[in-house]
Amino acid sequence: MTTIILGLESSCDETAAALVTDDRRILAHKLAGQEAAHRPYGGVVPEIAARAHVEILMPLVETALVEAGVELADVDAIAATAGPGLIGGVMVGLVTGKALALAAGKPLVAVNHLEGHALSPRLADPDLEFPYMLLLVSGGHCQLLRVEGVGRYRRLATTIDDAAGEAFDKTAKLLGLGFPGGPAVERAAAAGDPHAVPLPRPLVGTAEPHFSFAGLKSAVLRARDAGIHRADDIAASFQQAVVDCLIDRTRRQLADADELTALVVAGGVAANTVVRGNLEALAAEYGLPFVAPPQWLCTDNAAMIAWAGAERFGAGLTDDLGVAARARWPL
Ligand code: KG4
Ligand code: ZN
Repeated sequence: MTTIILGLESSCDETAAALVTDDRRILAHKLAGQEAAHRPYGGVVPEIAARAHVEILMPLVETALVEAGVELADVDAIAATAGPGLIGGVMVGLVTGKALALAAGKPLVAVNHLEGHALSPRLADPDLEFPYMLLLVSGGHCQLLRVEGVGRYRRLATTIDDAAGEAFDKTAKLLGLGFPGGPAVERAAAAGDPHAVPLPRPLVGTAEPHFSFAGLKSAVLRARDAGIHRADDIAASFQQAVVDCLIDRTRRQLADADELTALVVAGGVAANTVVRGNLEALAAEYGLPFVAPPQWLCTDNAAMIAWAGAERFGAGLTDDLGVAARARWPL
């Protein structure tokens, strides 16, 4: 018997609902971005995001059910992001999940958003087994994790200041490239020279395992103010510096690791083609398969939450309706 999981996501500025089966069929996946609402502010405004989630989430759930041809009564469990993220938005999604679970008499699965990213490659690739090395690069996080099983994540490295996606967003803002920043920097970088502007590679080559991007952002600011470089050259040089940091830190872990099935990347920055290409080459160096979800599954969505819900539900992990929303929640 296949099980059907309804997933809800609302931890940042994407409102999303999806229906996914435990045999990896995506029956429906609906997503409403809020870029237009946040663009005038050059970043996500938590209060605006939370209000938008309230308005959009239930209509998205209804549309997803109709598209999938599924009644709420046919759903086996309801999975909602319970953190980490902007607390107002997380509460909207979790309370909606609880209400649906209570009304339909279905179990609730409270999903850690990072676990959603961490397991998303297994939704895309049925052959991906544990344990794998995961580079999780998003707007809020930059971590290397050894994913050993559902609920079993060993964090090997994290950022000591900004996340990689945050660095992309801040660079886009500094260069006036628009919001959201990551795709804008990638587009500008495609027209620029990655060697045009000398920029630092914080922590590269050091014995400690972590990431750092704050110094890189300051260097971008200085390069911009120097007024001698084109914005696309700065963007390309910045992107190359981030890639060099990601590769160096990941290589450091691969050199120490044993028994890995694959090198895997997930999270919004994993949508970046240059990041993907360089990681693929690194995996080949170590004779490992490289797994990256399709780009739509890298950035925030509800299919990954439904899938993490399916994995947890399959492992017998459900949650009490009293479970709390959490702004911070390390994996
Ligand atoms: O995973 P995600 O959608 O949300 C979080 O959980 O944070 O990641 C969003 C981040 C943003 O910082 C965005 O700028 C970045 O991912 N991003 C990219 C690209 N697409 C999204 N960064 C670099 N290149 C991209 N193509
Ligand atoms: Zn995310």
